[in-house]
Amino acid sequence: MVYLTPRLAYHTVEVRLEQKRRPLVVYYSLDGNTQFIGESIAEAVSADALQLKTKRGLPSIPGIRHFLGGMQAVLGLEPKLEPYSVSLQAHDLLFIGTPIWASRHTPAVRAFLSRHEIEGKQVALFCCYAGNPGQAFEAMRKQIPNNSFVGEIGFKEPTNSEDPDVAVAKAREWAREMVSRASRSVSPEGQT
Ligand SMILES: Cc1cc2nc3c(=O)[nH]c(=O)nc-3n(C[C@H](O)[C@H](O)[C@H](O)COP(=O)(O)O)c2cc1C
Repeated sequence: MVYLTPRLAYHTVEVRLEQKRRPLVVYYSLDGNTQFIGESIAEAVSADALQLKTKRGLPSIPGIRHFLGGMQAVLGLEPKLEPYSVSLQAHDLLFIGTPIWASRHTPAVRAFLSRHEIEGKQVALFCCYAGNPGQAFEAMRKQIPNNSFVGEIGFKEPTNSEDPDVAVAKAREWAREMVSRASRSVSPEGQT
C-alpha cells in the first residue's frame, strides 16, 4: 500500500499590520489664530487635539496684555496650566503650535514642553504671528532636542487675513505632508 502524503508548503506569512497611530496636535491660543490652524491640522490628518489653557489669563487692555505677555515670554516663565489628560506614549507624531510672543514661543507651550519628557518623537512645529516668527522654532527645538523635527510653518494672522480659507488649505496640505514625511523617515523596523 502506498501512502501519499500531500506536500503542503508551510509558509510563514508575516502580516505586518500597519498600525497607524493618530498624531497629536498640541497648541496654545490666546486670540484664536493658533486654534484655527490647530483645528484645521487635526481635522486634516485625523489627529487628537489638545488646547492648552493657562490658569491665569492676561488683562484684556491691549497694551498691558502685550507688555505682560511679552515679559513672561522674555523671562521664560512657565505658567500653571489648566488640568488636561494626554498620553504622549500613544502618539508618534506631534504637531506643536504656538502664537509668537516677543519673538518667542508662548509661556504656556514652554510649560508644556518642560512638563513632559518628549523624546524620540516626530515633531512638526507651527506658529501664528503678526510680524514674523522670530526665533521661536529654534527655541522650541532646543527645548526638546531629542526628537526628529519633520517640518515647521508659520501663519500670519490667519483669522484676520483676507482669505482664511487659503490659510486652512495651506495648513491641511502641510499637515498631510508632515504625516507623509514622518512615515517615510521610519524604517520598516521602526528605526529612524
Ligand atoms: C503678548 C503678545 C506678544 C506678541 N508678540 C509678537 C511678536 O513678537 N511678533 C509677532 O509677529 N507677533 C506678536 N504677537 C502677535 C501674535 O503672535 C499674533 O497675533 C498671533 O496670531 C496670535 O495667535 P493667537 O490668536 O492664537 O493667540 C504678540 C501677541 C501678544 C498677545
